[in-house]
Amino acid sequence: MAATNTQTLLLLPGDGIGPEVTEEARRVAAHIAPDLAIEEAFFGGVSYDNFGTPLTDDVMARAHKVDAILMGAVGGPKWDNVPRDKRPEAGLLRIRKELDVYANLRPAFCFPALAGASALKPELVEGLDIMIVRELTSGVYFGQPKTIEQLPNGERRGVDTQSYTTSEIRRVAARAFELARGRTGRSGKFPGVLSCEKSNVMDSGLLWREEVTKLHAEQYSDVKLDHMLADAAAMHLVRAPKDINVLLADNLFGDVLSDEASMLTGSIGMLPSASLGEPGVPGLYEPVHGSAPDIAGKGIANPIAAILSLEMVMRWSLGRADVADRIFAAVGKALEDGARTADIGGTMSTRQMADAILKHL
Ligand code: NAD
Ligand code: IPM
Ligand code: MN
Repeated sequence: MAATNTQTLLLLPGDGIGPEVTEEARRVAAHIAPDLAIEEAFFGGVSYDNFGTPLTDDVMARAHKVDAILMGAVGGPKWDNVPRDKRPEAGLLRIRKELDVYANLRPAFCFPALAGASALKPELVEGLDIMIVRELTSGVYFGQPKTIEQLPNGERRGVDTQSYTTSEIRRVAARAFELARGRTGRSGKFPGVLSCEKSNVMDSGLLWREEVTKLHAEQYSDVKLDHMLADAAAMHLVRAPKDINVLLADNLFGDVLSDEASMLTGSIGMLPSASLGEPGVPGLYEPVHGSAPDIAGKGIANPIAAILSLEMVMRWSLGRADVADRIFAAVGKALEDGARTADIGGTMSTRQMADAILKHL
């Protein structure tokens, strides 16, 4: 937390379209919250190019001190052959891990004006409002051993370790239950928390199901809890997505299921995220999408995921729900006006799309 009353946001634009979309979020912030102090630093491939590391200790230390961090995206073909611990993505994993922001909230919300832009039939996604809660700081991303080893027979062997402890499961599940308590009145088949794993084949998945069930019985029996195998959940997401309210998953399944859910909303360029830890820890915010090397530098990326990530900053870290509501409403109105970047079927540039949103602020 900042020492004074001034709230501080650290911008980490990153690589590819990251700087293009975070610049628009910065303009929105400057307009709607002029008192907010905004700092900026290198992160990802651009940090590697300048300092030989995707995340310097200095930037990491600054991240601990601000109220919230808004990232763009990192990575790209330029750094594909850099040693793994120096790759842009390693910086992303480090900042998540060191802040211990274990609960990654990824809301998949279909704006009414975009029901026709989804990969699914409009009637399947009209009114869609799913909150994915992805565990973010453990699981197969971080488990040890993690290595590529040389075998005596000349073959190589790649190893990743999926691992979860009781407390790692319980703390993220608690977040999911609490979110579900605030999202009532749902009529779908899974109106509370839908917890996804592969308990049929994975021991960590079995532990996940047992611990979620236990925590539910102890503290959250007012919330409806359902379980589903993660592969079946992937299917259900495209069959009847509106059945789902809060979807809880581990790091890897949550990563995959949230990219899938993004296409229900029209485009991955629409999906924001918030990563939260214990109270007092700065929140980490980022679009769900990556650096999109295929469109980087063209000025055509959709800035909405970044702008809605700012909306989440206001709501979850800065205690400015009123400002968040205004940003959310402005995005909805711009879409109603017909504002569209290419990914959602239009021709607007990144800047024009942001201007269409700013017009309603
Ligand atoms: P990606 O999300 O960057 O792109 C997937 C597709 O979606 C591309 O066709 C891209 O053009 C499109 N897209 C993404 N964001 C868009 C936007 N805002 N507007 C319009 N279209 C958009 O995923 P990828 O291609 O698999 O990964 C590219 C790089 O990004 C990789 O190096 C990957 O590791 C990295 N990555 C970073 C993050 C992050 O920083 N949080 C997240 C995902 C991927
Ligand atoms: C995401 C991304 C990251 C992840 C990568 C870039 C490390 O896909 O934020 O969804 O897998 O978590
Ligand atoms: Mn992902």
